Amino acid sequence: NFPPRYTNVLTIPEAMQPVRQDVVDGKVVKKYYDVTAKTVPAAKILPKLSTIMLGYNGSIPGPRIDVDQGQAVQLVVRNALGATTGTFGTPSPISTHLHGSASLPQYDGYAGDLTLNGQKKYYQYPNFQPARTLWYHDHAQHYTAQNAYSGLAAQYHLHDAVERAALPQGEFDVPLTVSDAMFQANGALMYDDRTHSGLWGDVILVNGVAWPVLKVKRAVYRFRLLNASISRSYRPTLSNGAQVHMVATDGGMMPKVQKVSQWRHGSAERYEFLVDFRSYAPGTRIELKNLSNPNNRDYDHTGKIMAFDVVGDPVSDAVKNWRIPTEFRCVVDPVTGQKRLTDDPSAPLVNDEVMGLVPTKDMEVRTLRVQKSDVTNLWSINGETWDDVVRSDYRKVVADPDLGDTEIWEIQNNSGGWFHPVHIHLIDFKILSRNGRPPFPYEMGPKDVVYVGENETVRVIMKFGPHRGKYMVHCHNLPHEDHDMMHQFSVGLDDD
Ligand code: C2O
Ligand code: CU
Repeated sequence: NFPPRYTNVLTIPEAMQPVRQDVVDGKVVKKYYDVTAKTVPAAKILPKLSTIMLGYNGSIPGPRIDVDQGQAVQLVVRNALGATTGTFGTPSPISTHLHGSASLPQYDGYAGDLTLNGQKKYYQYPNFQPARTLWYHDHAQHYTAQNAYSGLAAQYHLHDAVERAALPQGEFDVPLTVSDAMFQANGALMYDDRTHSGLWGDVILVNGVAWPVLKVKRAVYRFRLLNASISRSYRPTLSNGAQVHMVATDGGMMPKVQKVSQWRHGSAERYEFLVDFRSYAPGTRIELKNLSNPNNRDYDHTGKIMAFDVVGDPVSDAVKNWRIPTEFRCVVDPVTGQKRLTDDPSAPLVNDEVMGLVPTKDMEVRTLRVQKSDVTNLWSINGETWDDVVRSDYRKVVADPDLGDTEIWEIQNNSGGWFHPVHIHLIDFKILSRNGRPPFPYEMGPKDVVYVGENETVRVIMKFGPHRGKYMVHCHNLPHEDHDMMHQFSVGLDDD
């Protein structure tokens, strides 16, 4: 019953339709979406068996939301999971986080802000940020790992005028959500995390399909690769040694396109890259492989992700002649007030607000130290767990910047042979250094997750805003997050 490699066709779900829209002057200003978290009784992943999973609207992969900058979204999430989630007998309360969104605190999916079975919660998302690949996933305290692993995760694409002009769209803009899973003999998902180290499956899924294959035309494709694995990190590479053109990171477009032949890709990180299939003969197969990283658990086929089969279908001249960009600059259009792409070499680079941040001497430097207790097996940040935060009545914080403050955070991995993809809510940051050296070329775009490898010390810089409130910071290896490597910071609250 082990799934075959490169046989099943990649599923690319259509964008979900809003249930209603507000239109002002012919423009959609707000979209309303309605999703129900429910059990998927028989997902078809394995050849002869079916798998119980969880899905937003019962769909695997979760339904994608596509919006334009300036269109607000109301997302109502209904919990219809029953008394337990059915997969591992975990309790069914959920909390939904839109990862990558500067949401108000009450809509940010706080781990303790639980929606119980039979209840619903209305989330409001502003979508004023620059274009990016976001994703929404469960964030219920102590059960985020089981819930996301079971299927409560989906991509969310925020478009803007600069990105639409700069990067491939439509059929050439392909979401790829990679995850891994381990199955029991009866087809059910296996979950075993007694040491709170993580879970590494022997089956690699892309958009819920085991080792899929995608037919590609002779064109330049843009892939939005989200690592939704709860623990596994990847080192993707193309089997023919070709370089990809890295065009965007978690928080949107990179100022300068980076050509790379492999990259380290931790949980929750999003990397958008272009692959140029134009010079390949129809019939060519190119694999997206995984070279792996230290401290993952590898199995016979976890070095494979998916395959691309080049086909000779006709493409337009515009596609044939498209010039792969090397950098992105933008100006504010005097008529629309919106940013637009420009070739003007004196115009600012895209996402300058984040990528232009530079350290100054009087800037606050905060230290976040990651450790693991050999006694409790619990992970901590600065010696404190999420449970400590909860028991302080949410008074404990790791940082308390004012609105508009810029700070440097130094994340120190003192946990021995473990890596941690560390996620900071609300803001986009720029990576300044890793062990005193510059960040990797592919991570020189706006980020909200940083891979803090074994014994690494990473510095990031960010400006806090635009909202006041308390926000979470945590490891995105979800078993680490759940036990209990999560803390919070406050922005613009003077009572702290
Ligand atoms: Cu993707 Cu706090 O999470
Ligand atoms: Cu971790």
